[in-house]
Amino acid sequence: MNTISNLTNQLHQHRASFPGLANKTYFNYGGQGPMPQAAIEAISTAHLEMQRLGPFGNAVSPWMNQQITATRNAIASHLHVAPETITLTENVTIGCNIAMWGIDWQPGDHLLLTDCEHHAVVAIAQAIRRRFQIEVTICPILTASNQYEVIAQNLRPNTRLLVISHILWNTGQILSVDKISEICHKNKTLLLVDAAQSFGSMPLNLNQLGVDFYAFTGHKWMCGAAGLGGLYMRPEVKVNLLPTFVGWRSVSTDVQGHPQAWHPDGRSYEIATSDFPLLAGLREAMATHQKWGSTEERYQQILKNSEYLWRKLQLIPQVKCLLTSPPESGLVSFQLINMQPQTTSQKLVSYLEIQHNILTRTIANPDCVRACVHYLTLESEIDRLVAAIQEFCNQ
Ligand SMILES: Cc1ncc(COP(=O)(O)O)c(C=O)c1O
Repeated sequence: MNTISNLTNQLHQHRASFPGLANKTYFNYGGQGPMPQAAIEAISTAHLEMQRLGPFGNAVSPWMNQQITATRNAIASHLHVAPETITLTENVTIGCNIAMWGIDWQPGDHLLLTDCEHHAVVAIAQAIRRRFQIEVTICPILTASNQYEVIAQNLRPNTRLLVISHILWNTGQILSVDKISEICHKNKTLLLVDAAQSFGSMPLNLNQLGVDFYAFTGHKWMCGAAGLGGLYMRPEVKVNLLPTFVGWRSVSTDVQGHPQAWHPDGRSYEIATSDFPLLAGLREAMATHQKWGSTEERYQQILKNSEYLWRKLQLIPQVKCLLTSPPESGLVSFQLINMQPQTTSQKLVSYLEIQHNILTRTIANPDCVRACVHYLTLESEIDRLVAAIQEFCNQ
């Protein structure tokens, strides 16, 4: 039988395979996850294999294709979709760009965002507005009591696309994506989901969610290397979504090497030479997590940890959590209240890092501090964070 101390020992052992966790107390999983040693080694092994085979030559291509296929399959299986629906990208933002620029925007079309989207997505929307003379509006869900009603009210007959985040990167709230898909499909509006904070942190079944596009990255909660992400696209939508950037990976060629046709699957949005050894790193990171527990078990542990942190923060009079109930994700955001006006979120984040080697971050809107807990997080780390915040508030 597993006692609590056995489980804690197991977690300590498992954490030892993440070098980034050895010398600090880490709460920035939503920014970038620490890579397991095995993933770093898999990347290094892949580099060496590329050098052994080529790095350029006949023998390398099948090896490279094998790496691409294996990683696409691993991602597709994690999301419960067909591998053909997956485009490999470099990060979330590229996935969002593929979806957002691929629509055949006409002047006057409407694009709807929420007020909780990352500035990367807002910047893309602004660039599309300038290029195609469309209208972009922002739907206020941050303080809404019923976010679904607000979204429905902000859709217009000419809304071509709605962009939402699955887990809001500021508050840590989860949106019911299936509900929003339904609202969008009734309105004939495409739905792009920014999955920066959900991929790797919770179980996902994209068929059940009914999304049109789901853009994610391997370098946050999944703890892969920075520089590798992906985009899921619903096959029915793909037919009308033209690739914006193209290259040799997007097309098939004839015997003379002339481009013939787009690949019929997610590859049509892939472009050219990439950092192929990263593929092995992401697969190894996924396998490392699986050794500790299933996606559901890891998510449940994340929830336990975030509830523990959220409850402890409630006990500090100068702290106000953004959410009024325990988060349904690993993101716990809070504000300082009743403090001197010069006491800013940034001061607390700097204090935690300089004085205690505890890594958190600020978020600008709403102004707050965000601490992310993973299944890898120890209760003792949360205790240390809370004690350091208390100490800062008592200064
Ligand atoms: C919600 C959200 N969207 C997009 C991004 C940008 O991610 P990437 O650098 O992988 O494009 C982030 C990064 O923190 C994020 O939190």
